[in-house]
Amino acid sequence: MISRRLFLGATTAGLVLPTSLARAQISANPFTLGIASGSPRTDSVILWTRLAPEPLLGGGMPAGDVVVRYRVWEDAEMRRLLREGDVMAPEDDAHSVHLKLEGLAPGREYWYSFAVGEYESPVGRTRTAGSSGGTARLALASCQSWQSGFYAAYNDMAEWVPDCVVHVGDYIYEGGIGTIGTRQVEKPGETLTFRTVRLHNCNEIVTLRDYRDRYALYKGDRALQAAHAASPWIVAMDDHEVDNNWAAEVPQDPWAQTPLEFQVRKIAAFKAWFEHMPVERPPVFYGLESRLQMYDSYRFGPAKVHLLDTRQYRSDQYLDEETCGTGYNGQGRAPCTEEDQAARTMLGLAQEKWLARELRGSDAGFNVLASQIWMAPFHYNTAEDPVSVNTDSWDGYNAARARLIETLGQGVANPVVISGDWHCAAAMTIHEEPGNSRSRPIAHEFASTGISSDCGWMHEMEQMRSVNPHVSHLNARQHGYCRFDVTERDWTTAYRVVSDPYDPASPCTTDVELRTRDM
Ligand SMILES: [Fe+2]
Repeated sequence: MISRRLFLGATTAGLVLPTSLARAQISANPFTLGIASGSPRTDSVILWTRLAPEPLLGGGMPAGDVVVRYRVWEDAEMRRLLREGDVMAPEDDAHSVHLKLEGLAPGREYWYSFAVGEYESPVGRTRTAGSSGGTARLALASCQSWQSGFYAAYNDMAEWVPDCVVHVGDYIYEGGIGTIGTRQVEKPGETLTFRTVRLHNCNEIVTLRDYRDRYALYKGDRALQAAHAASPWIVAMDDHEVDNNWAAEVPQDPWAQTPLEFQVRKIAAFKAWFEHMPVERPPVFYGLESRLQMYDSYRFGPAKVHLLDTRQYRSDQYLDEETCGTGYNGQGRAPCTEEDQAARTMLGLAQEKWLARELRGSDAGFNVLASQIWMAPFHYNTAEDPVSVNTDSWDGYNAARARLIETLGQGVANPVVISGDWHCAAAMTIHEEPGNSRSRPIAHEFASTGISSDCGWMHEMEQMRSVNPHVSHLNARQHGYCRFDVTERDWTTAYRVVSDPYDPASPCTTDVELRTRDM
């Protein structure tokens, strides 16, 4: 089999492509998962699709690599054809296509489509990154649990047509099949109601086939497809693309998965993630070791976005189980003294150094850190010691956060953190001493609520609002996403919320609009 990279290299050298043997055997529309573009640079973008006539049954493609035709236009009316050619959909990559389109102009829109045999994909719009100056329209999304709501937020996002969508993870959830209907949770003074509106396709996913079919389930959603077709995306996985709250080599439940089982599971998860994302670099496997290069920086006019990887290199959040526990148990957790040890890392040494270099060398008006998890602190108890926090977020990594805040405080222009994970919209100030809101403000953080994932801890967050004075906006009760309008001098965040999370055609409105210069 010809490797993808060799093949793409060969096409630029003018190699004549074989016609596809499999083409004649594709018996149904293979473009069921839509199209996408991503990783936009000033002169290039990745175009993506995956051929899957039977999306929930392993794809349903005949054996063998398949040649896919692509076309790129300079206008929405598709009158000015810029380029056309062939690209391989390798069987080994689940017949996904990752075409790096090069030689493009900066800050410019393009339209593209794929075709195989008699079948044509929808037409997508993409846009290259802008080098500097001008304006940028960015959208932030995360946490799209299939079962707990519909994706009306994505219809609204597609209509807005951002320059780029930043997705900071939980694109899929790995869990099993729920139960359709409502679920009530009693809290002091109120009853919370959650609904399961549609079901996962199988039990908790573990194998490559499981992960592929789960991505296919999610990517079958029309609203999600519309948002992909409207704009390029940059994506970083969080925990649920593999296993809840995993950290480097450690799964959520080390007592239930052996290290070997988790290594094999990560290989499957990483491979399927690549196969379904408009990203350039496939995972690298060394024996049972797996690595994905997710962290990178992207330039959108006045904003430089540093997409972080807060999952793959982190120290384990499973500290001393006896005294600290892990993650969030409804009341938060007491942080361990170990958390303050300098050796604990969130980004890993190489990424930490890379980020410091990128930030120091940046000439952008706004320096954005796209973090999967919240960087600002949040305390889940009153001011007594010990404070109770979510140890899966940066709150579990105090020393690493302190190092990063120190870097940000050394002349980095307008640091803005954008984050997800917590299914709760929030605007926060990150202070020099994160727990002391009278210390010097260093950065703003805009956390997106889930596209569809529920916030089971909304009650506790609202109760503890007063002990978190650095939080200027909090809405854990609605689903949605963030819109960012950036100019050289100003950053505006609009928190878009879905009126009815259980209606796939729900309207969206702006809950709150904030400008960093007013904060
Ligand atoms: Fe999530």
